[in-house]
Amino acid sequence: MPTDQAKQTAAAAQGATPDKLLSSIHKISSLLTRTISLDKILTSIVKETCLVFGFTRMAIFLADKDRRLLECCYIHGFNAQDSQRARRFPYRLGDQDCVETRVAHQGKTVFVKDYLSDPRMTAIDLTVSRIMGRVSTIAVPLKIKKDVIGLITADKDDVRLKLTQKDINAFSTFANQASIIIENARLQAQNQQKIKQLLTLQEISKKTSSTFHLGKLFQVISASALQLTKASSARLFLLDDEGKALSMVSSSGPAIKDKKRLRLKLGDAVAGLAAHAAQTGAPALINDAAPDRQEPRFDGAVAQLAAPLISEKRVLGVLHVASDQSGAFSEDDLKLLMIFAGHSASLIKNVRLYGQVMTERNLRENILESSPNSIISLNLRKEISSINRRAEEMFGFKRKEVLGKKAAMVFDQEIAHIIDLALDDHAVVNRKEINPNHGATALGVTSSLLRNHQSALIGAMIIVRDLTEEKKTDELIRRIDRLTSLGQLSAGIAHEIRNPLASIYFNVQLLAKKLPASDPTHSLLGDTQEGVNRIRTLVKGMLDFAKPSPPSLKHDSLPRIIHESIALMESQLRKNKVEAALHFEDDLPDIVCDPHQIQQVLINLLINAMDAMPDGGRIDLDARFAGAGPCGEVTLRCTDHGVGISPENLGKIFNPFFTTKPEGTGLGLSIVHKILEQHQVAAEVTSQPNQGTTFLLKFPACRIERPRCTVTPF
Ligand SMILES: Nc1ncnc2c1ncn2[C@@H]1O[C@H](COP(=O)(O)OP(=O)(O)O)[C@@H](O)[C@H]1O
Ligand SMILES: [Mg+2]
Repeated sequence: MPTDQAKQTAAAAQGATPDKLLSSIHKISSLLTRTISLDKILTSIVKETCLVFGFTRMAIFLADKDRRLLECCYIHGFNAQDSQRARRFPYRLGDQDCVETRVAHQGKTVFVKDYLSDPRMTAIDLTVSRIMGRVSTIAVPLKIKKDVIGLITADKDDVRLKLTQKDINAFSTFANQASIIIENARLQAQNQQKIKQLLTLQEISKKTSSTFHLGKLFQVISASALQLTKASSARLFLLDDEGKALSMVSSSGPAIKDKKRLRLKLGDAVAGLAAHAAQTGAPALINDAAPDRQEPRFDGAVAQLAAPLISEKRVLGVLHVASDQSGAFSEDDLKLLMIFAGHSASLIKNVRLYGQVMTERNLRENILESSPNSIISLNLRKEISSINRRAEEMFGFKRKEVLGKKAAMVFDQEIAHIIDLALDDHAVVNRKEINPNHGATALGVTSSLLRNHQSALIGAMIIVRDLTEEKKTDELIRRIDRLTSLGQLSAGIAHEIRNPLASIYFNVQLLAKKLPASDPTHSLLGDTQEGVNRIRTLVKGMLDFAKPSPPSLKHDSLPRIIHESIALMESQLRKNKVEAALHFEDDLPDIVCDPHQIQQVLINLLINAMDAMPDGGRIDLDARFAGAGPCGEVTLRCTDHGVGISPENLGKIFNPFFTTKPEGTGLGLSIVHKILEQHQVAAEVTSQPNQGTTFLLKFPACRIERPRCTVTPF
C-alpha cells in the first residue's frame, strides 16, 4: 500500500477518530496482500468504515463488465426488504437520474446533507430516501486509476450525517483503498478461475493422451469439452475427406433430438455455428441466440461455442458446446476450448497415425513371416535382431536361441563375411551364390543396409534364398527349350529329306537291277545305298525324337521288358563280348508304361554301354523297389564299366546331335529323354571317366488296386 495515501487518510480523519482510523487503515491494507474471498474483503471494509465514521448502513455497487448496470454486490445494515430490492433492481448506468448513477458516471463524491433541502435531488432520489427512511447519505466512487468500477453509499438511518470536509476526504481515501482491494480480489478470483481451468485442461490432456483407440478418444474429447466449459452438451464433429460436411463422432450430455444435426453440410444456411467454425477455421461464440436471430439454435441451446480442430493448418473437425443458459460462455471459455481443440486435433492425428503404423507393422510382419526366403536383420554390432520363420527352417535354429547373438556365431563363414562386408564396408551383394559347408545346397544371398527415417545406418538385412530346386528347374527348362526348338527344326528337315531320299533309294535300286552283274559301277551303287541307308536311320531318329508317338500306357513288368530287350540285343552283345548281368528284386510291382518305348530306351542305353566298352565287359542291370513317393518307385540302374563321361560332357549328353563317336548320330539319348519325360520317369546319370557310367531311372510303381497312381501322359 502506498504510504503517502495512508498518511493522507490518517490526516484526513484526524478531526474525528484518528486512532481508530489508523488501525482501520492498517487492517484494510493488510487485506491487500492476502488471498481472501471478495465477500470477506467487503465485510471487513464495511465493518471498519462503519466503526470509524459511525455509519449504520452501507452498500457497495459495482459496474458490470459491459458497464451497463450498477449492481449491488454488498449490503450492510438494511432491512431484508430493502436489501432484496437493492440486489434485484440494479441501476442503469446510462440514466443519470439518482445520486448513485451520477457518482458512478462523474466519478466524484456526493454528500447529501439533507435530501429534502438539497436542490440536486431528483424524484427518484426522494423516493429512495422516503422508502428507506434515509435523510442524508454519502456516495463515494470506487476508482482504479481513472476508471470508475463502482461506488459506496453510506448513511446513518434517519439520522442526519454530520461530516466535515476532512471526514469526506478520509472516506474517499477509504474508498480508494477499497477499490484496489476489490479489484485485486476480482483479478485474483479471475486468475484462480483460469488456473482452475488450466489445471482441468492439464488433467484432461493427460487423460486423453493415454488413449490409443480412436472411438474412445472421441468420447473422451467430447466429455472433456463438457467438463471444461461447464456446458450442458458437447459434440465432436469430424470433417469428411472432401471437406464438404461435418459428421458427429461423439457427444456428451443429453442425446441430440434433431437427427439432422448429426451431419452438417458446410455452406448450408441451417448448418449453424459448428459448420461456420469449420469453414472459417476460427472459433465462434453466441451467448444469447434470440429467437428472431438467423442463427439456428442447436437443440434449443441459447449459448453456443464452436472451436475448430486444426492440425498442420488443416481443419479436421469442430468441437461444439452448447448451453440453455444465456451468457453461459465467456471469452476465457472460448480460449480454453480453442487450446483443447488444438490438443485434440494433434491427438486424433497421432492416434490415426498410430493406427496406420500398427496396420503397416502387422502387414510387414505377415509378409516377412510368410516369405519363402530367409530374412534376417542385424544391428550395427552384428547381432541378430530379427529372423523370420523360413530362416528358422532353413538354418535349423529357434528364434529365441539366436536373437541378440553375434551373426558370426550363428551363421557359416560365407554369410558372416557378407554381413561384415555390408556393415564394415557398406558393400552389398545381390543373389551371391554360396554353398555352405561345401554341400550340395546352393544359396543365393542378398544383403542390404537398413537406415532409419533420418537416413542414419542402423543395421543390415540379409535375404537368403534356397537355389537348389530353382537351379534344377532352370536346367530342365533350358534342356526342354533346346529340345523343343531342335525338335521342331529336325522335324522340318527330316520331312524335307524323306521324300527326295525315297526317290534316291528307289532309283539306286532300279539302277542296280538294270546294270549287268559284272558292271564295276555296282560297288559305287552299293556305297550309295549304304550312305542312303545311313541317312534314312538318321531321319527316322530325328522324326522319333521330334514327334515320338504318345505312349500307349499299360501295366507291365519292368523285368519282362528288360528280358525282351536283352533278347533283341543278344547277337550284338555277344559280338561285342559284352555280358548283361541282371539283378531283379523279387515281387517287383508293375510299372505303367508303353513297353515298346521303354524297350527303345533300354536298347539305346545298352548300345551306348556297349560302345563305351570297345573291348567288351559287363553291363549290370539292377531293378528294385524303393519306398519313396505315394506308391513307391521301381528303380533301374544300368551300369557299364566303360570309358565313362567327362564332367564337361555330362551336361550335354541328352542334347540332340551331341556325340563323341565318329559314326554317332547324337540322337539316342535325346530320344531316351523324350520318352522318359512322357512317362514322368526321372533319370539321373553318374559317371567316372575310365571307370564307368550309371543311368538311374525311377519309374513310379503301381499296384493295380491303386488307381490314384495312374500316369497320364502330357
Ligand atoms: N554309357 C556311356 N558311356 C560313355 N559315354 C556315353 C554313354 N552313353 C552316352 N555316352 C555319351 O553320350 C553321347 C551321346 O549319346 P547318344 O545320344 O546315344 O548318341 P550317340 O550314341 O549316337 O553318340 C555319346 O556320344 C557318348 O559320348
Ligand atoms: Mg547312342
